[in-house]
Amino acid sequence: MTPLPVEESAPLDGGFAEKLLQWYGLEGRDLPWRNTRDPFRIWISEIMLQQTGVETVIPYYEKFLARFPDIVSLANADIDEVIALWAGLGYYSRARNLHAAAVMVKNRFEGSLPKNLDDLMSLPGIGRSTAGAILAIAFDQKTPILDGNVRRILCRIFAVEEDPRRPVIEKKLWQWADDLTSEKRPHDYSQAIMDLGATLCTPRHPACDRCPVAACCRARQLGKAAELPVRKQKKTLPQRREVVLLLSQRGRLLVRKRPYGGMLGGLWEFPSLIREGKENSAEVAAKLLAALDAEGTLEKWGKSRHTYSHFHLESEVFFAEVKTRSQRIRESNQTWLPSSEIAALAVHGAHKKVFRLLQEKTAKNGFLQK
Ligand code: ADE
Repeated sequence: MTPLPVEESAPLDGGFAEKLLQWYGLEGRDLPWRNTRDPFRIWISEIMLQQTGVETVIPYYEKFLARFPDIVSLANADIDEVIALWAGLGYYSRARNLHAAAVMVKNRFEGSLPKNLDDLMSLPGIGRSTAGAILAIAFDQKTPILDGNVRRILCRIFAVEEDPRRPVIEKKLWQWADDLTSEKRPHDYSQAIMDLGATLCTPRHPACDRCPVAACCRARQLGKAAELPVRKQKKTLPQRREVVLLLSQRGRLLVRKRPYGGMLGGLWEFPSLIREGKENSAEVAAKLLAALDAEGTLEKWGKSRHTYSHFHLESEVFFAEVKTRSQRIRESNQTWLPSSEIAALAVHGAHKKVFRLLQEKTAKNGFLQK
């Protein structure tokens, strides 16, 4: 069957919002940020949910709000504490943006989250979809959202067979998202459509037989729901390699804080150096040890791997017991800490794995101070 051109796809008058809302009343999920209309709490939940799933977010959400119950407490906080509470959620620019935005709200908007799209979007970390979600959920305003879930649902409802990231398609998707949003119940509608995407209209195996809006779905009629939206070819990510040093002195290990502003800024890590080209890992490790003015015998301990959004990182880990505490180390943003304190630091994902390797070794021979 020839697909219909996008313009002629599924009708908008099929009671989409009503059917969805009826289903939501029966099947909607009970989530912590749904027991409040506090714009601050809703904002925090939307930022955490941008790149992280509901189950992972819940304990972080609870802990974050127990420490920062309102905008002023967040604005007045030390960024290190905000990042520490974020540790493990990933995409740390979200934490930095949240903090910067809280300061702006305190100074520019008298401590209250603005209630209009332009002002919300002027805050760091809030794009059009997040602003739409905040306005709909916190203020019950009819504003569309177009996150990954909604994009997938609309591509199916309207049988979009083109790349949904193309600007002309993106524009149509926003228009449809707006057209479909309930006038009467935007607060419920926005969460209902998110739940539909998370529970039934899932990426690979949509449960069309249980879908409340299957009758409005053009892709379902064409037998193509699981194929849409068209998937981008997965790019193969480049591989980077680094050498990591676990330097121990009297039971303490050397750690350093990454500079703010760069990738993973403000997070902690062990000293490390990227390996270029065909460089031998032992030579790179020796070079890094010398740069730190430290002396010791390096032992190769193994490798760990971590994938970031833009590259795979292979970390080759070396251990050395070092004897001198060099001036250079004391002057920089580096410090010696016992492993119990490192466990509580905001260490980035790749070096959390390195730390686990260390813990496995320590469990065997117990030489580090706890
Ligand atoms: N994903 C983004 N926002 C959400 C919300 N409010 N509830 C559930 N999942 C979401």
